[in-house]
Amino acid sequence: MDATRIKKEVGFAAADEYVKSGMRLGLGTGTTAIWCARRVGELMKQGKITNILAVPTSSQTELECQQLGIPLRSLNDPEINGELDLTIDGADEVDRDLCLTKGGGGALLIEKIVAYASKQFIVVIDTTKLVSHLGITFPIPIEVLRLARVPVARACEALGAKPEVRMAVKKMGPVITDNGNLLLDLSFSTPFDPKRMEQELSLIPGVLGNGIFSRVRPTVMVGHPDRRIETLR
Ligand code: 5RP
Repeated sequence: MDATRIKKEVGFAAADEYVKSGMRLGLGTGTTAIWCARRVGELMKQGKITNILAVPTSSQTELECQQLGIPLRSLNDPEINGELDLTIDGADEVDRDLCLTKGGGGALLIEKIVAYASKQFIVVIDTTKLVSHLGITFPIPIEVLRLARVPVARACEALGAKPEVRMAVKKMGPVITDNGNLLLDLSFSTPFDPKRMEQELSLIPGVLGNGIFSRVRPTVMVGHPDRRIETLR
């Protein structure tokens, strides 16, 4: 099965298994999580689930939900009141303790706020995302206030990282996030303790968010090329 097919199957499976009528739902970002939003839209159209309110984690997901007719809210709306029943999102890397790297699509700040505000967090990936240590093959993204770029980069170097400003592809200059900030991608050459690194990065003034998710307890659904979907808890 090709990569897109695996992403679709695991995104659909997560929606089928976990999304129920009446839920306040966080919807993730990326080429895997978007299939979950599409499935939710489909199930709503078929009348199989009703009364869904969704909080999107990026402008990608917001646009998709608008096209699908999924009602959107923010975490601050009274019907959501800062708490979600369930969030389903993708990940860039998942280690053996189910710590995650997220932010390959640049949405890590809102993704973390939404995931940490959810009672249940489901992560949808394919087998290529499973690693023994985070941050060695896929860099750890951090969202940084523009005026703090250089001091933040120096502080990250002191933690053993090689920081690089993420550059845009179809625009000259850096990627600007949905929140108007820069992204630095941090490469590491040696393994680190994700819990400690998540905290260390959070303490740097000017860092608004980092892509290590070590304090959520996700259920991870892994799509295999032979169509098997494995669940890790
Ligand atoms: C976006 C993310 C994505 O969930 C992550 O990059 C995985 O994306 P994909 O499913 O396209 O590989 O964190 O910020």
